[in-house]
Amino acid sequence: MPTRRGFLRIAGSSAVILAAGSGTFALTRTPAHALAPWAMAGDTDLYTDPRVRALSYAILAPNPHNQQPWLVDLNEPDTVTLYCDLERRLPETDPFDRQILIGLGCFLELARLAAAEDRRLVELTSFPDDQPGERLDHRPIARLKFGPEGSADPDPLFTHVRERRSLKEPFDLDKPLAQETLLALQSVVPEALHSGFNLSAALRAELRTLSWQAHLVEVTTHRTNMESVNLMRIGKAEINANPDGIDIGGTALLDGLTLVGLLNRA
Ligand SMILES: Cc1cc2nc3c(=O)[nH]c(=O)nc-3n(C[C@H](O)[C@H](O)[C@H](O)COP(=O)(O)O)c2cc1C
Repeated sequence: MPTRRGFLRIAGSSAVILAAGSGTFALTRTPAHALAPWAMAGDTDLYTDPRVRALSYAILAPNPHNQQPWLVDLNEPDTVTLYCDLERRLPETDPFDRQILIGLGCFLELARLAAAEDRRLVELTSFPDDQPGERLDHRPIARLKFGPEGSADPDPLFTHVRERRSLKEPFDLDKPLAQETLLALQSVVPEALHSGFNLSAALRAELRTLSWQAHLVEVTTHRTNMESVNLMRIGKAEINANPDGIDIGGTALLDGLTLVGLLNRA
């Protein structure tokens, strides 16, 4: 690891740090105010460097088990080099680093959207030092080259960046997806992704069964289940102390059960 100097805080707490000047540093959300980075993102007084401004949105990205595995190097002017914090991978639930890479992709996409809001084009080179093998390694995930002001137009998706949170509540399985919602989704997904959208009930049932079976494998395999359990933050105090991991609760009921010792990891 390079020396840690030239720190630049991008949020109120010491847990949120960005590389400036020299080295590679971890970015994570603040313990004391788990939600503060959502309010501080894009603050032009705090973040005068357009790269840091864009990154202040990127750190809000969804990512598996909320491990926030991003490391950035800002040494090169107008450039952000993104690495994966290899310690933050999930060897049991994500043995091929597939999910962690999706989270890093979300980070990159948010950085791109935020830079476009600043009217800066981001040129992305993925795996600039060649692709990893079976698992990620110390080589960069991507290099982002920031263009001058005026090189890009804002993207309408940016409006939704701060509205986004993972919904961890039961879905109404009988409520059909409206055709116009589907069309709206389709309209913002670049064709290059080769993604498909489908309203077929049969396909939905098939995918539901497959997902449930996968879930059962994960939760009935002890080492895999424990990786998730160990990363659970149960109740408000734990969530505030460690706003990474899987948050369970913050509700009065769960907090109460935790306080009286009725709810714990075991
Ligand atoms: C590839 C990927 C896999 C995820 N898997 C799960 C999961 O299995 N269970 C879960 O509750 N959340 C999952 N999440 C959501 C993250 O836990 C969530 O994004 C993270 O805790 C941050 O919370 P937020 O999305 O509300 O900001 C996943 C996210 C990504 C990108």
